Amino acid sequence: MCGIIGYIGKDNSVKHLIEGLRALEYRGYDSAGVAFFDKENALMRVKAEGRLANVEAKLANVPEAAGSHCGIGHTRWATHGAPSDTNSHPHGTAALQIVHNGIIENHVELKAELVALGYTFESDTDTEIAAKLLDYYYKQESNAPDAISRLTGRLRGSYALGILFEVEPNKIYAVRKDSPLIIGIGKGENFIASDITAILRSTRDYYQLEEGELATVTADSIEISCNGKQIVKERKTALWDVEAAERGGYAHFMLKEIHEEPEAMIKTLRPRIKDMLPDFSDEKLDTSALAKVERLHIVACGTAMHAGLIARGLFESLARIPVEVEIASEFRYNDPIIDESDLVIIISQSGETADSLAALRLAKEKGAHTLAIVNVTGSSIAREADSVLYTLAGPEIAVASTKAYTVQTSLLSLLAVECAMLRGRINESAARELVTELYERAPKAVAEMIDRADEVKAIAEEIKTCEDLFFIGRGADYYLSSEGSLKLKEISYIHSEAYAAGELKHGTISLVVPGIPVIALCTVPSLIEKMGSNIREVTARGANAIAVSFKDVPEANKTVIIPTIDPRLAFLPAVTVLQLLAYYTSVARGCDVDKPRNLAKSVTVE
Ligand code: M6R
Repeated sequence: MCGIIGYIGKDNSVKHLIEGLRALEYRGYDSAGVAFFDKENALMRVKAEGRLANVEAKLANVPEAAGSHCGIGHTRWATHGAPSDTNSHPHGTAALQIVHNGIIENHVELKAELVALGYTFESDTDTEIAAKLLDYYYKQESNAPDAISRLTGRLRGSYALGILFEVEPNKIYAVRKDSPLIIGIGKGENFIASDITAILRSTRDYYQLEEGELATVTADSIEISCNGKQIVKERKTALWDVEAAERGGYAHFMLKEIHEEPEAMIKTLRPRIKDMLPDFSDEKLDTSALAKVERLHIVACGTAMHAGLIARGLFESLARIPVEVEIASEFRYNDPIIDESDLVIIISQSGETADSLAALRLAKEKGAHTLAIVNVTGSSIAREADSVLYTLAGPEIAVASTKAYTVQTSLLSLLAVECAMLRGRINESAARELVTELYERAPKAVAEMIDRADEVKAIAEEIKTCEDLFFIGRGADYYLSSEGSLKLKEISYIHSEAYAAGELKHGTISLVVPGIPVIALCTVPSLIEKMGSNIREVTARGANAIAVSFKDVPEANKTVIIPTIDPRLAFLPAVTVLQLLAYYTSVARGCDVDKPRNLAKSVTVE
């Protein structure tokens, strides 16, 4: 949520800031801005509501930008104050400018103090309050590190801050708490960034800034200190390269990422399979926790939570462990019953989702063993969990999560088999058969649906003008419906609901009117007959029922036939159909597929 970039070095800094912000725009995109030193070392600021292009247009009339060598930039997802030029970052005073990710929770109290001290405010943001408090401490301390330390001592909430001081045109300062920030290492140039994708064009090497650390960055040096003492940090290298984070000829990131699913599944599974059986021995995964665990909690948000629902079915049926799937933002407030005998799995693509991170911390506090299933290496959730299994999907840039779900569910399926074996619930040959389906058959089935995208595109044309729509299913298909529905509404703005097919007639069927599309997931063989009856209930009221199944569903108006696969893994090709449906419907409606309104990729506020 929101993106930060900073550049200092031999090149034009504004060029790097814009490049970085373009890569970060997926994190928040309702306004953007930059602050930079011109060649006379005057500190300047340009910001604008709306997309990055608006800032670029303004910069075209600022000749000083051409001579800049040091600057910071920000792309915003509004929390305090509507998207506007004034509320955009950077914020500051004559002495300094800052960019901020996160939320300052005690902003009301701090603002009152500052008003009493004579400060005035032009924006509605918590960031301007932090900037003015820093200004106040800077006037007292006359040196940046002490002023920053006094500021962070006062801030409650989460923050990643990039800071420029007017009197130090050759330095960028950076600090963070509960919001990620890295320091990119270049040659004769250095960076700060909230996300590695912002700097991949220039470098893959970085330091991870930790809470309580202050980074002082010049063109030739990076000093990181903690409580005034310089520390030596481990240099890290990103696994992703710049190609992975670019669109590579696809019309949208979302389409590219759907196409990457088969390969991402194989990459994620390969290192964890030996002799066609699960093998997590290279993972520092405490398998004894899996063998003994009495109850499993899966906690996540959005699509990651839907992946958890699919996993629940597999863990319960294969390993016979009771599983609770919980929405991370609710988890803490439900006073969850967890103890040392429980395993808590946190699923997150970004590894930075604030609610999921908070749930992880609570689970640890309660003594449960925690396991993170995360895509972004070194992210907060990955670092704080007792064990981590990385999904190897590569960067996911489109706001709508696609390949992340596919790899999360693939990895969790393998883990469910491992767990079932450890608990003696499945024999080796049955495990081997299922793993073979997962590793060899499922990626091919997903690839086949991608090749047949035109069939789905035709359905998107059929539904593109509807206002409301239902997804229905039973068992695993109900969980899949939830994901299909989320994806469609997120990027096409069509209102849709996912319903347990048998539950519809208990009230909601009153919304079924002639012509309404009903997407009926029918991939659970034992439930297909019952689904047939539920489909008849809606077609009798004029609905246009579109089934997704292994074979033609005669009760439906049409069926998208998915490839034959072990039905326990049918969600994999079926979800690709739903993702493609959302994608093509969004395109057909002229929506901004990769950056849907009001959203941001990584939700780092609660
Ligand atoms: O990064 P995370 O997996 O923790 O993100 C969780 C959700 O915010 C995310 O899956 C969201 O629901 C997607 N935009 C849905 O496509």
